[in-house]
Amino acid sequence: MQRQAVLQWLRAPEDRLDELWAAADECRRAHVGDAVHLRGLVEISSYCARNCHYCGLRADNHQARRYRLTVAEIMHAARQCVALGYGTIVLQAGEDYGLTQNWIADLIRLIKHDTGLAVTLSLGERRPEELRVWRSAGADRYLLRFETSNAALYARLHPAARTPRPDRLALLPMLRELGYEVGSGALVGLPGQTHEDLANDLLLLGELDLDMIGVGPFIPHPDTPLGVAPCDAEDQVRADELTTYRALALARLICPDANIPATTALATLNRAEGRLLGLQRGANVVMPNLTPAAQREDYAIYPDKACTHEDPTAYDAELRAQLSALGRSVGKGRGDSLRWRQRHANRRRDDYQEAS
Ligand code: 5AD
Ligand code: SF4
Repeated sequence: MQRQAVLQWLRAPEDRLDELWAAADECRRAHVGDAVHLRGLVEISSYCARNCHYCGLRADNHQARRYRLTVAEIMHAARQCVALGYGTIVLQAGEDYGLTQNWIADLIRLIKHDTGLAVTLSLGERRPEELRVWRSAGADRYLLRFETSNAALYARLHPAARTPRPDRLALLPMLRELGYEVGSGALVGLPGQTHEDLANDLLLLGELDLDMIGVGPFIPHPDTPLGVAPCDAEDQVRADELTTYRALALARLICPDANIPATTALATLNRAEGRLLGLQRGANVVMPNLTPAAQREDYAIYPDKACTHEDPTAYDAELRAQLSALGRSVGKGRGDSLRWRQRHANRRRDDYQEAS
């Protein structure tokens, strides 16, 4: 898709958008089909060493309550994931160095041994050696959003880590090289983000040839530097529902084969219909929250998250009924990315040709 076309859709008047939704929905159907893959999301730690200006878990937010789940709590959630028929568990946390290399590796091995689930990690910018060890332990996928492709805006919102490390964009090819399915994405409506920036973010998704894509609206958190940020910069992208659907639909058109969730942040903007509309405008994944109820509220990257009071079993029943009403099936098995499967088939073929 050309940059000009992306910009036009980002700025198109509301009454033209049905055309965009229809194109994204058709592209989704043709490339990844009608199945919606469900992934169980477990937020394993709310500690974070970083200080992203938009996020409620940032280290300097002393109001945030911090927890780390025990192995027993995580395994309980993993069994729940299996019982609900989900093929993937997503282990997400702030950048918490208390989650050590060996602890995570042992956890991955235990989950694999006991459940056979596909394991997705979303643990921030970790050392290349950790990423390698976790992949060897059996982790299948890694999510790391680049958040914004505008380097100056990124630098403004992300104070550097205390120890020098490869930058975020450099980690993505490294993850790919290690054999992970790779996910990334951006925030919609960060204060200071222009439509040109968002168009660049969306085009970058295509250049990175991602397996998974997460795009969600920025939601201000009152205990962060951006909590009270009425931002009227020129050409500022709005952090609203409609703009998020535009970005989602364009992400699908730019990356037809990717797995793209209807995010919780989107559901937070429209509790009744956000996820369902997302699924009809490009998305093909939902990530129901399986974090234990006692800690759920404390994983507050932004306030009032849609899933805070969702009971996994009740939400699962509701979601299945809604999907069936939309004429969509529930994905079976692990729901691997098509790109990843192709890439691995090619790799195996190349290895074979080299060997013979
Ligand atoms: N609003 C919306 N999304 C946020 N994230 C962090 N803070 C916020 C916020 N205030 C997103 C980031 C991060 C993901 C785990 O949560 O994009 O990558
Ligand atoms: Fe930490 Fe992630 Fe929040 Fe940044 S976005 S402060 S790395 S949890």
